[in-house]
Amino acid sequence: MTTVRLPPGPSAPRIVQGVFALTAPRRRMRRLRARYGDAFTINVPIFGRAAVICNPAEIKQLFTAGPDVVENLQPNLGRVLGPGSLFALTGDEHRGQRRLLTPPFHGRRLAAYERIIEEETVRELASWPEDRPFATLPSMMRITINAILRTVFTGGGANGDVAAGSLGVDLARLRELLPQAVTLGSRLLMLPVPQVDLGWWSPWGRFWAMRREYDAIVERLLAAAARDEKLDERDDVLALLLRSRYDDGSPMRHSDIADQLATLLAAGHETTATTLAWAVERLRRHPGVLRDLVAEMDAGGGALRAATIVEVQRTRPVIGLVGRHVKVDGYRLGRWTLPKGATVLAGISLLHADEAVFPDAGAFDPYRFLDTQPDLHEWVPFGGGTRRCLGAAFANMELNVVLRTMLRDFTLIPTTERDERWHFRGVAYAPAKGGRAVVRRRATRPGMADGAHMRAPQARAARWTERGTSEGSARPERAEACAGDTSTATAATSGATTATGGTTNSIRATTTP
Ligand code: HEM
Repeated sequence: MTTVRLPPGPSAPRIVQGVFALTAPRRRMRRLRARYGDAFTINVPIFGRAAVICNPAEIKQLFTAGPDVVENLQPNLGRVLGPGSLFALTGDEHRGQRRLLTPPFHGRRLAAYERIIEEETVRELASWPEDRPFATLPSMMRITINAILRTVFTGGGANGDVAAGSLGVDLARLRELLPQAVTLGSRLLMLPVPQVDLGWWSPWGRFWAMRREYDAIVERLLAAAARDEKLDERDDVLALLLRSRYDDGSPMRHSDIADQLATLLAAGHETTATTLAWAVERLRRHPGVLRDLVAEMDAGGGALRAATIVEVQRTRPVIGLVGRHVKVDGYRLGRWTLPKGATVLAGISLLHADEAVFPDAGAFDPYRFLDTQPDLHEWVPFGGGTRRCLGAAFANMELNVVLRTMLRDFTLIPTTERDERWHFRGVAYAPAKGGRAVVRRRATRPGMADGAHMRAPQARAARWTERGTSEGSARPERAEACAGDTSTATAATSGATTATGGTTNSIRATTTP
């Protein structure tokens, strides 16, 4: 029998540790890190004993372990998004769905979305007040929800005017419904699921009512897509899922498509919006960086902006931890031996704050990434391995376009106010005051009206996105980190299926979008 060797940790009862974890999660983690070092064990309700690791070599080992050794954390977001969600799927089913969903969020397709993101940003920023403080987070939420809705349901607007007809009405309703459902769902994540639906009076009842409305809208959109004679030519994600077939030729169930779309919509907006609000918060407190960014943008550059995005995500990662569930007995992870069923949490914030990994880690210093890309086992805001964020490249492109458009059209006024505190919203950490800004509209400068000045930075931003974040980069550690994402556009759309010969029915696209 293998001897279990868990990292050391506090002996306080589970309930006491649970209260700490809920009330002061960040402070608690930092204290445990200071006391026990770069690996410790906590004992909390729902997860039980969980090893928290923030040693880069051990995190790398965890992320590169295969799905036969570790799987997604249990329970996870699939609890609120549904059994068809990428978060809930495991093994071959998970791999098949990732192959299917990767192309719409990577490579050449990203350039097509830049236009809609800039459009959404300009539209939203038109209502920004001048010379008085306001929280930018609500604006960032509206930009990112609109961007992901258009991407998922219209393929970037390629299927017609999103504001027109019944599609426009349905998208308008989803635009209201989804942020409310995501906020409520994030809070319910750790609460027990009741056996009976107590209706609008209970949080779960309210959540289920929202979910029923969402399902009805998606069902309408699926029915309309099924009637569409041009379904095979469409490049939106809904059409892609509707056309896909399992190995035995059967289509995906509509309920599974709805779960998967909900996953993309939910995962795809709040995280990006909170990162943008943090970017505003950081830049207002670093006027030198802000000045350099504006000068670079005016000169048609984008390298410092790309580095700034990396540094914002290092110093203010919106997801603090990602977890894995151990599937084998006696799993050796670095110095530790973990039992089957154990939970391992990779401490993103702790790793990013490690002086040994990032010297002067507490400083906000985008220049550290100006000529060098981060190691993707040390810089892990998107997690890693076969579960690494599917939307990482999309998110970085979106961050780049929104930031660029904001700096082009507005002067962000610096502040000497204290840093905004971290506020936990259920899944993501946001600046407590919503990334407050004071702005002034910039005068249009000569040569800027025709949009010609945009072309060079856009091209550069796209290149950075490809180089720095897209799947399948040439960097060896990158390739390893995404071992499960070998799906290039070609493989994914040519119906590549799993080679393991497992009994699970895997999924593929039947037509090339
Ligand atoms: C700054 C923005 C974002 C951040 C910080 C972020 C972060 C994360 C993290 C930490 C994970 C878990 C990774 C792991 O377990 O190793 C994840 C998973 C995921 N994210 Fe994101 N995300 C962002 C934006 C997006 C966007 C825009 C989309 C949609 C296009 C998206 C879709 C997903 C999906 C589908 C998963 C589940 C992947 C799987 O289980 O295979 N995310 N994200």
